[in-house]
Amino acid sequence: MVEPGITEPVVIVGAGHAGVAVAAALRTRGWNGRILLIEAEKEIPYERPPLSKDLLKPGAPEQASPLRTEKFYVDKGIERLAGLSVDSIDREGRAILLADGSRQGYYRLVIATGSRARPLSVPGAQLPGVLALRTHDDAVELKRSLMPGTRVAIIGAGYIGLEVAAAAAKIGCDTTVLEFQDRVMSRVTSAPVSRFFERLHQGNGVRFVFGAAVTAVEGSGRVERLLTADGSSYRADVVIAGIGVLPAQDLAEAAGLECRDGILVDDACRTSDPLIYAAGDVTRFTGSFDGTSQRLECIQNALAQAERVAEDITGSPARSPEVPWFWTVQHGVRLQTAGVRHPEDEVIVRGTPAEGKFSVVYLRDGRLAAVDTIAGLADFRPAKKIIASGAQIDPAAAADPAIPLADAVRAPIPVR
Ligand code: NAI
Repeated sequence: MVEPGITEPVVIVGAGHAGVAVAAALRTRGWNGRILLIEAEKEIPYERPPLSKDLLKPGAPEQASPLRTEKFYVDKGIERLAGLSVDSIDREGRAILLADGSRQGYYRLVIATGSRARPLSVPGAQLPGVLALRTHDDAVELKRSLMPGTRVAIIGAGYIGLEVAAAAAKIGCDTTVLEFQDRVMSRVTSAPVSRFFERLHQGNGVRFVFGAAVTAVEGSGRVERLLTADGSSYRADVVIAGIGVLPAQDLAEAAGLECRDGILVDDACRTSDPLIYAAGDVTRFTGSFDGTSQRLECIQNALAQAERVAEDITGSPARSPEVPWFWTVQHGVRLQTAGVRHPEDEVIVRGTPAEGKFSVVYLRDGRLAAVDTIAGLADFRPAKKIIASGAQIDPAAAADPAIPLADAVRAPIPVR
C-alpha cells in the first residue's frame, strides 16, 4: 500500500531490535513502498541478549546471532546500508546526510539509534584493558580477555555487570564487582531480589564491594589496578564498565527535535516533527500503565514501539499496549519481570528466597504495578494480565504463595 506520488523511502536509522522490527512490521502491514535501513555497524543486524550471556561461554562461537537472515531482507525488499553513519537530518529538505557525503530523501524517517554505554570518566579510563559491552565487537574483545585466573574488576552491578560477572566466574576468573549503591540491580529491583542474587554470585565466587566510587584506573601501558574514593586499590587485568547507558539522541537533538534524556515521542512514536518517528531505547514517552515519563531499555519496548510506528505510517489500527517485561539470567537462574517497579511501591515477597524460587509483588495504590519472578514463571503471565487490567490486589493473599496470584485480585478483571 503506497499512495501515488510517494517516491522516497521510509528511512530507518539504526538496525537494532527496534529498527529491524519497524522494517518487518511495515511489510506485514502491506507497505509496498521502499524501505531503507541504515546502520553504522558492518555486521548483519544481530541479537544483543547473547552478547553478555551465551557468547561469553567457553567454546561458544564468536559469531553474532542475526535477527533476520540475509534472505529475509532480500525477500521483503528491505534495502540495507551497513557500515555507514547518518551525520545529520535536513528536516526542511526531508533528507538525511550520510558520512560518505551522500544525501538521501525520506518519505518518513524513523530514528532507532538505541543507546550507548555510559563512558567511564575517570583518569586512566582510556587504558587498554578497560572495556565496555554494547556491540558484538565489544563482546568478542571481552571474551578473548577472560581466561582462568584473569583478575576481572567490573564497575556497576546492573544487568551487564552481573551477567558478565557470572560468565567470568564460570571461566575461573578472579571476579570483583564494584558498585556505587549498597546492593545489586538497585535501578530495577527491590532489596529481597538484590540480596538473593548477591548470595547466588557470592556462592559462585564473585566478590562485591558496595558504596564503591571508582576514582582512577592505573597501569603502565595497560590497566593494572583500580582506585576508589576510600583509598582502596584493586588489582585488575581487565576492567569492564557496566555503568548504564545514554540514549543515542545526538542526531535528533542536532535537528532540533524535542529531547529530554531520550527523544520525546507520543503514543504513535511521533517525535516533535510529524514526519519523523523514533522507537526503542532512544525514546522517552508516557507509560500506558502508570502514566509516568519513562525510557525503557528492553527488547519488548523496542518491538512494541516498532509496531506503533508501522501502524501509524500505514494507517493500520493501533493494538492495545503490552505490559513491559524484562529478563536476565545469572549463574543459570532466571529473573523475569513484568511491569515497571517504582522505589516507593509496597514490596511483598511470595515464597522463600532461601529455597531458590520465589516472586516479589509490587503494589502501587493497592494495584499490581510489577512482579519479579525468580526461577519460575507461574506468576509472570497472570501478572501481565492483572497489571494491564489495573485491578486491586489483596496484599495478604498476594503474600501467600499457595494462593494463585490471579486469586489475589480483589475485583473481577475487566476485559480490555
Ligand atoms: P544498569 O543501569 O542496569 O546498571 C548500571 C549499574 O552501575 C547500576 O547499578 C549503577 O548504580 C552502577 N553505577 C553507575 N555508575 C557507577 C560508578 N561510577 N561506579 C560504580 N557503579 C556505578 O546498566 P548496565 O548494566 O550497564 O546495562 C546497560 C544496558 O544494557 C541497559 O539498558 C540494560 O537494560 C541492558 N542490558 C540488559 C540486559 C537484560 O535485560 N538482561 C542484559 C545486559 C544489558
